[in-house]
Amino acid sequence: MKRIFSGVQPSGRLHIGNYLGAIKSWIKLQDKYKCIYGIVDYHAMTVKYSPDDMQKRVLDCATSYLAIGLDPKKSSLMIQSAVKEHTELAWILNTITPISWLTRVPTYKEKSSQHPDDLNIGLLDYPVLMAADIILYKADAVPVGEDQLSHLELTREIVRRFNYRFGRVFPEPKSILSSGARIMGLDGKSKMSKSLNNCIYLDDTPDDIRKKLARAVTDPQRQRRNDAGNPDVCNIFSLHKLFSISEEIERVNKECRTAEIGCVECKKILAKNMSNDLTPIREKKLELNKDIDYVKDVLLAGIKESKIIAMETMEEIKQKIGVKYTFL
Ligand code: TYM
Repeated sequence: MKRIFSGVQPSGRLHIGNYLGAIKSWIKLQDKYKCIYGIVDYHAMTVKYSPDDMQKRVLDCATSYLAIGLDPKKSSLMIQSAVKEHTELAWILNTITPISWLTRVPTYKEKSSQHPDDLNIGLLDYPVLMAADIILYKADAVPVGEDQLSHLELTREIVRRFNYRFGRVFPEPKSILSSGARIMGLDGKSKMSKSLNNCIYLDDTPDDIRKKLARAVTDPQRQRRNDAGNPDVCNIFSLHKLFSISEEIERVNKECRTAEIGCVECKKILAKNMSNDLTPIREKKLELNKDIDYVKDVLLAGIKESKIIAMETMEEIKQKIGVKYTFL
C-alpha cells in the first residue's frame, strides 16, 4: 500500500483552514493509503511558545483528529518528538541541503520579517525537518494546504539529491491539494492563521460562528445594502462554496449580484451551514475529552507503529551513508 504522511503543528486550536485545507481530505485518503498523521511538536518550537501548554495542545490536536474522523484502525496518529528518527534524519538531510535553498523559501522570508529579533536556526531549517518527517516513512503523497507547496518542492529536491548521491532510497513525494487549499481569514486579507487572530476554530459554538461571521469582511466595493455585490471577490462567498449546498450557493450568487440579498442575510445562511458541519465535530471532541485515556492510547499505538517503519528506514539510510558500523 502506498504511504501518506501529513501533520499539523500543535500551536493552537485547529481552525477551518486546517480542516478544509488538509485534514478533511486525510479522512478519505485513509482507505486508499497507509496513512501516518503527525502532531509535529518540534516544528511548533521555532517561534516562542509556552512549554507548560504543550501537552494540552498536543492532546487537543489528537482529539480534533479523532473528532474529525481519523480512524486509528486505518491510520497511525503520532507525535513527532516521540519518534526520534525524525530529528536524526533531519541532521543527515542538513548535510546535503545548501543554505541557499532554505533562505529562498517564502515562509522563511515571511517569518523572518515577522520575528526579526528571534531568528533562530530552527526557522531556517524548518523545511528540512519537514522533509525528514515525510521521507522517513517513504511517503508517496502529502495532503496539505497551498502554503506548504514550497516545502514540498524542497522535499523533492532533497530527495533527488540524496538518491543521486547515495543511491535510490526515497520516492519523490507528490502533494495532494483539496478545493479548500487556501482559506482566507475573516479579515479577507490574509490567509486564515492561528497567529493572525482571523480564524473560525473547529470547536467554536454556533453563537461564536454567527458573531465572527457578522464582523467578517465581504466584497469591499459593496458599501450599502442596495449596492449590487460581487461574489467573485467576496470571502464569505468562497466559504459558501465549501459549506453550503449547491442550490443555496446558486441563490446567494445570483441574489447578491442583484442586491436581492444583503450581506447580513448571506452571512446568516453561511453561519447556519457552517454550524451544521462543525457541531458534530465539537460535540465529538467534548465526548472524547471525557475519555482522554483513549486518546492517549491511540497516540501510543500510533507512535509504536510509526517507530517500526522509522527504524527500518534509518537502518537502510545508515547503510547507504556509511555509518552502519559492523564492529558495533
Ligand atoms: P500548519 O500546522 O500550519 O497547518 C496544518 C495544515 O493546514 C493547512 N492550512 C491551511 N489550508 C488552507 N487554508 C489555510 N488558511 C490554512 N492554514 C493551514 C496547512 O497547509 C497544513 O496542511 N509545516 C506544516 C506542518 C508539517 C507538515 C510536515 C505537513 C510539518 N511536517 C510534514 C505535512 C508533512 C505546517 O506548518 O502546517
